[in-house]
Amino acid sequence: MIERYLGNKSSIINHIMKEVDKLCNKGDYVCDIFSGTLSVSINLKKSGYRVISNDINRFSYCFGRSHLIANNIPKIDFESLGIDYNLYAENAIAKVKLIEKGVGYNFLNDKKEENSYVDLIVLLTYLDSISEKDIDPEHRKSFFFDYYTEEGKYSKFVSQRGSEGNRKFFTPSNGSKIDLYLNKIREWHKNNLLLDDLYYLLLSTISESVEKVSNTQGTFHDFPRTKYDSRAFKKLELRAPKFDNILSDIDGHILGKERDSMEFIKEVPSHKLLYIDPPYNFRQYTSYYFMLNLICDYCEIPDLNKYFNEVKYVRGQNMDKNFISSFCKNSEFISSLQKLIENADTEWIVMSYFNGRNHKSATAGDKGTILNELEQFFQTDLFESNSLKIKPIKRKNYQSYGGHKALEVNELLYIVKKRMKDEMV
Ligand SMILES: C[S@@+](CC[C@H](N)C(=O)[O-])C[C@H]1O[C@@H](n2cnc3c(N)ncnc32)[C@H](O)[C@@H]1O
Repeated sequence: MIERYLGNKSSIINHIMKEVDKLCNKGDYVCDIFSGTLSVSINLKKSGYRVISNDINRFSYCFGRSHLIANNIPKIDFESLGIDYNLYAENAIAKVKLIEKGVGYNFLNDKKEENSYVDLIVLLTYLDSISEKDIDPEHRKSFFFDYYTEEGKYSKFVSQRGSEGNRKFFTPSNGSKIDLYLNKIREWHKNNLLLDDLYYLLLSTISESVEKVSNTQGTFHDFPRTKYDSRAFKKLELRAPKFDNILSDIDGHILGKERDSMEFIKEVPSHKLLYIDPPYNFRQYTSYYFMLNLICDYCEIPDLNKYFNEVKYVRGQNMDKNFISSFCKNSEFISSLQKLIENADTEWIVMSYFNGRNHKSATAGDKGTILNELEQFFQTDLFESNSLKIKPIKRKNYQSYGGHKALEVNELLYIVKKRMKDEMV
């Protein structure tokens, strides 16, 4: 999964699941309305709930397709992809034999799954080994190298304050590798050689692998201007996902495709619990994570030259699909929350928020005020009286402000019952 993500809930997932388990039965619909990295959605799936998941980001949709909706390791037709299986099989088998069974890898105890996983490793090893000559000339492009590495011919930036330089989101060799992966997949995709399950799995695998070697400190809004983060020097290689949490017999999950949750919620069927993990401040996710969205969009962008010609700002984002969320605005946060919950056909709400730098304390210096406003909001007529519980969970905050120091903050869980429509006053 994507690890460096503002508000990623991996580190406190057990606390969240404990509260969900108290209120829901297996098979119930649970809605993760701001799903981000899918860390909560996947854990809900693993626990036997039917999951409804949505986020505005394209990369979240790709992970949703490959990790939530898909229940199997996809089948691969090597012949139609033009891959000589035998060339890579021996190494792939040896690699898989070395994997220690344990968290995430217990599926390898099943011979059939092990064989499918070996096939996937063959495919990823092939992609890691290709050079330009393996790509149809029509698809030989170098956009990631050109726009996002310091040696690229279009990577120059001038900031609003006048500072100049060349973008360095990746080392030049890793930038070229991203081009090779994506151009080959674009070629396969254009020739209709990839079934959806495999297509989305490849895109989420590339996103996840790229994130591990990106020269960023948590977001793609910027990069260290004069140096590289030590992680960026690692050689980019595709990392296959652990499938324990993906393989499942339960169908019926629902996934929104880059929808505004304010609209999507109106179409969501009746569910037992709505988990809300909203942005905590002004940072707009489609800007801060544009690179992951670009990787997931690349094969479907009709005119790549036009798209890259229009990139803007120091970071080099094409603003076509940029989305401004009302949940990131101090003045609209509570009213947006109210509309979202009014339109939700849910019994319970569990909402995460935190007492670190949030909507109000990030700008006004009045830390705490928003927490009072939230507490008041959750006691309005929209909710059953006296049903609100607020549970603090301690965690370290590794987010991108405050230098590198891990601050101890409380993540707060608001647990509250929505008043039935006919009980509303
Ligand atoms: C705190 S993060 C969620 C993190 C997620 N629970 C995880 O563990 O990765 C908030 C998410 O809300 C999404 N978001 C913000 N406003 C949105 C909107 N109006 N519609 C859909 N998604 C939105 C962002 O893209 C971001 O992924």
